[in-house]
Amino acid sequence: MTNRLPLTVAVVGATGVVGGTMIRVLEERDFPVGELRPLASARSVGRTMPFRGARIEVAEATPEAFDGVDLAFFSAGGGTSRELAPVAVARGATVIDNSSAWRMEPGVPLVVSQVNPDDLAGHEGIIANPNCSTMQLVPVLMALRDSVGLERVIVDTYQSVSGTGAKAIAELEGQVRAHVAGEPKAASVYPHPIAFNALPEIDVFQDDGYTREEWKIAVESRKILHLPDLRVSSTAVRIPVFVSHSEAVHVETRRPITPDRARELFCGVPGVTVQDDPAGHVYPLATHAAGRDDVFVGRVRQDPSVPDGRGLAFWVVSDNLRKGAALNAVELAEILIERDWLRAASRRTPATIGSGAGEGHA
Ligand SMILES: NC(=O)c1ccc[n+]([C@@H]2O[C@H](COP(=O)([O-])OP(=O)(O)OC[C@H]3O[C@@H](n4cnc5c(N)ncnc54)[C@H](OP(=O)(O)O)[C@@H]3O)[C@@H](O)[C@H]2O)c1
Repeated sequence: MTNRLPLTVAVVGATGVVGGTMIRVLEERDFPVGELRPLASARSVGRTMPFRGARIEVAEATPEAFDGVDLAFFSAGGGTSRELAPVAVARGATVIDNSSAWRMEPGVPLVVSQVNPDDLAGHEGIIANPNCSTMQLVPVLMALRDSVGLERVIVDTYQSVSGTGAKAIAELEGQVRAHVAGEPKAASVYPHPIAFNALPEIDVFQDDGYTREEWKIAVESRKILHLPDLRVSSTAVRIPVFVSHSEAVHVETRRPITPDRARELFCGVPGVTVQDDPAGHVYPLATHAAGRDDVFVGRVRQDPSVPDGRGLAFWVVSDNLRKGAALNAVELAEILIERDWLRAASRRTPATIGSGAGEGHA
């Protein structure tokens, strides 16, 4: 490996729930950070973020803040990414973006580390991290795609409030306290109280009646799995859980598959853990997945509504802030370093493009 290490790393949105998790994951995985630049809006200038036993001052995310940056993790909303990711790239950084701004842009790789890492080879400076609901779904779907083929997926989500950000966590906490105190539950982040409720509205409604979140799960899954014709339908629901998204998944496969075989296949996917002992009340839980890196899958059973043994139903749970956002982003950066793809493809020498070996990162 000839990348110049350690790297200067910017975290844009450092004061948010994803940005904070990103900094923790970089530290936990001993990522080769030489200099960390926590960036956020002008509101946060002067705040500090903990990193390797020190406190590092947050700076404003301006164009100049990217000078000398090798790698920038963005999690500061789509508008910030649209505006500043190209600026960071023009100043020599490679961007791994957590927002939805670039995911479906042709030529921008949309990557889950254990599913389609080779798609990183041709990046031109911006790499997109998928939506958290898509992220935990596709490693499991990949195992079925590769073994028996996939025809159709129906996924209904039970998503935690941390998926909306810091303000939503505070809103749920406030509403729980208000309930206990017998006071009215004020809602500002969501259109209705989220405490003791289930809201079938995540992101905006589209003309076809689906929400943008439901649309993202469909189009992102197709792009990541390289299955442009995969039939997908989804209902995305916000529930009063702090961390971890859960998903009820129904799959129609091309060829028959038994639940036992599916469990074997799921066990073989890196980063996927099967928890499936209904008699012992063992199945994936949001509270167990929170703070952990894996995608957990259980309740695997045959779906009798699909003929010829081609239907499966199961339950998938993962920490939306870790695998669903920060962890996958850092895993992608680790792959870029390992394969010497940190530089945009057009800035590598011809011999290095897609080869995993070559000249260094200037
Ligand atoms: N939460 C999840 O599970 C999840 C998963 C995948 C992707 N994402 C994406 O990650 C992004 C952040 O989500 P979050 O949950 O961490 O939200 P959050 O807790 O609300 O944090 C938002 C962050 O963005 C910063 N920010 C806002 N406007 C900015 C601006 N104009 N310039 C620079 N920084 C700005 C904020 O800085 P200040 O503190 O200074 O306002 C804060 O650091 C969103 O794009 C979201 O879609 C989230």
